[in-house]
Amino acid sequence: MKSQTKILVIGANGQLGTVLIGALQKKYGVENVVGSDLTRKDNFYGIFEIADATHQDRIQELVSKYQITQIYHLAAILSARGEENPLQTWEINMKTLFVVLEVSRRNAIDKVFYPSSIAVFGNDAPLHQTPNNAYLNPATVYGMSKAAGENWAQYYFERYGLDVRSIRYPGVIGYQSLPGGGTTDYAVAIYHKAVLHEEFTCFLEKDTTLPMIFMADTIRATLELMDAPKERIKTRTSYNIAGVSFSPIEVVQEIRKLYPEFKVNFIPDFRQDIAASWPKSIDDSAAARDWGWKPEYDLKMITQTMIQKLKEKYKTGSRNLEISPC
Ligand code: SER
Repeated sequence: MKSQTKILVIGANGQLGTVLIGALQKKYGVENVVGSDLTRKDNFYGIFEIADATHQDRIQELVSKYQITQIYHLAAILSARGEENPLQTWEINMKTLFVVLEVSRRNAIDKVFYPSSIAVFGNDAPLHQTPNNAYLNPATVYGMSKAAGENWAQYYFERYGLDVRSIRYPGVIGYQSLPGGGTTDYAVAIYHKAVLHEEFTCFLEKDTTLPMIFMADTIRATLELMDAPKERIKTRTSYNIAGVSFSPIEVVQEIRKLYPEFKVNFIPDFRQDIAASWPKSIDDSAAARDWGWKPEYDLKMITQTMIQKLKEKYKTGSRNLEISPC
């Protein structure tokens, strides 16, 4: 094992990458974290490299240049956007994973993080308290790529001893960054609209309950999993983690405690069908047992924090946070 931890984050510009990079820089030092993505954002702080993760030579080049010991592979096309071009979604999501797994194996990388998703579950999994080992028949190409990816992660662990660790994220809610192309994205956009005193049009039915998680819990879960002693990691496909489950109308009710005039329309689109195929709540007892996972944020705490932080953000003029519907 190389002594100094050096981390490469692929997908640094995404909803999670934006925040996780800061947490990794704080933990390991700015000089030990390399962000990479297809483009560089003006406000990126730290070491950054433009890279297309479908190109193995380029990822190999970065691993050699920085003596990388850990890779966080966050790049993917999500559930809703992925349906626009199914074959391309499969190609990109799988190709980037194979590049990461192969480069990691060849360079004896210490640890790899590969996010999976509640999208791996389909209509044949129990809707409530969906267990870690439920039957997987995903309804989206994104979900199919993650279900396959989990098995590849396990394969590289068993065949080559590569220490790949994975979490099935619920919908992630944070004020720091915007999601792009997911089915759970409404749960971030709604807070922006409330703070801006604008009307919100929700693309899901009002009573569609989905598993969600606050960004702070998401980051903590990721770091806790990656810090856990290797022998504690018993699941080598991916761990379920729960945060909180709620429906759009429940968020609206919570927001209206602070913004009583907040107006919402419900105009469900194709994303309703995707959401309907996903669990309503998640059994995360395996993660709790193996590495001590416990969420902290409930809907009330999420709502209060989102509104307070977004108010500060918009007050200081960060209106460049575009709210994309998909
Ligand atoms: N948030 C993701 C999506 O909606 C789920 O992993 O696609």
